[in-house]
Amino acid sequence: MNFNTLIEENLRNYIPPKNVTERNLIQSMEYSLTAGGKRIRPLLVLEFCQLCGGAIEEALPLACAVEMIHTYSLIHDDLPCMDNDDYRRGKPSNHKVFGEDIALLSGDALQSLAFQTATSGITAENAYRVAKAVNNLAYYCGACGMVGGQVIDIEHENKMADITILREMDIKKTSAIIKSACEMGCIIAGADDTAIENAGIFGESIGLAFQIQDDILDVTANPETFGKPVGSDKENQKSTYVSLLGIEKCRTLVKELTVVAIESLEKFDGDATALKNLALSLAERNY
Ligand code: IPE
Ligand code: IPE
Ligand code: MG
Ligand code: MG
Ligand code: MG
Repeated sequence: MNFNTLIEENLRNYIPPKNVTERNLIQSMEYSLTAGGKRIRPLLVLEFCQLCGGAIEEALPLACAVEMIHTYSLIHDDLPCMDNDDYRRGKPSNHKVFGEDIALLSGDALQSLAFQTATSGITAENAYRVAKAVNNLAYYCGACGMVGGQVIDIEHENKMADITILREMDIKKTSAIIKSACEMGCIIAGADDTAIENAGIFGESIGLAFQIQDDILDVTANPETFGKPVGSDKENQKSTYVSLLGIEKCRTLVKELTVVAIESLEKFDGDATALKNLALSLAERNY
């Protein structure tokens, strides 16, 4: 079975049953989790696990967990108190369907489900590797990672951040979870610290390129292929690489960061062709 099919099938299996009083909450979680999306973060967990010679079935719960964290971050990111966006993954945003209260709570519940899922495959033999991976995920999705980055983002609406702040913001709000996905793949495979460090460099670089490309697409994309509103950053007066440097400089930066990412793959003994191609395709994406 290919990795994308494995991810889709497993993600669905972790959704709690709907025969409960609060089934509206479960429907809301399922709505966003199964709405599509590129599934880049879970793919990175599996690809790095494979590159380091690990067992894919041990990496799958971690792959699903990181997609749950990402999905929760998107539900909250779209709320009126954040980016106030009405479309996501080609469908009305979670709060447009279920209301702000349930959207907030389903984000919370997806975060808990992520940690339950991440630890669901624990055995006496893999407990150290699972705990180390979960510690990594918790660090990168919290105050020092994604949530911290979202705070910098919100606090710089209506005022221009300098390049140092923008880099910190994007590394936290976007690279952090992508970096965690790469590192967790190595950790669960039992790889050494050098491999984890190089996976981290790959993740941080493609993560930053990914957010800059997202900011470019917020100006240039077709909303139908993009699956979310275009022009949202301008409307919210966001401070982004694009608003500071312009589109052409940003395109160059995306290419440069992708080269840095690909160079870090050369440090691995295994065949990293799939990861190299993924990095190249992300840099050229229009969705
Ligand atoms: C969107 O992430 C949020 C950003 C970090 C730019 P993705 O572009 O990976 O969103 P999905 O998962 O494909 O919907
Ligand atoms: C969001 O960045 C990053 C997250 C942590 C969710 P954006 O606000 O640019 O993401 P989109 O464009 O709404 O997907
Ligand atoms: Mg945002
Ligand atoms: Mg947004
Ligand atoms: Mg965006």
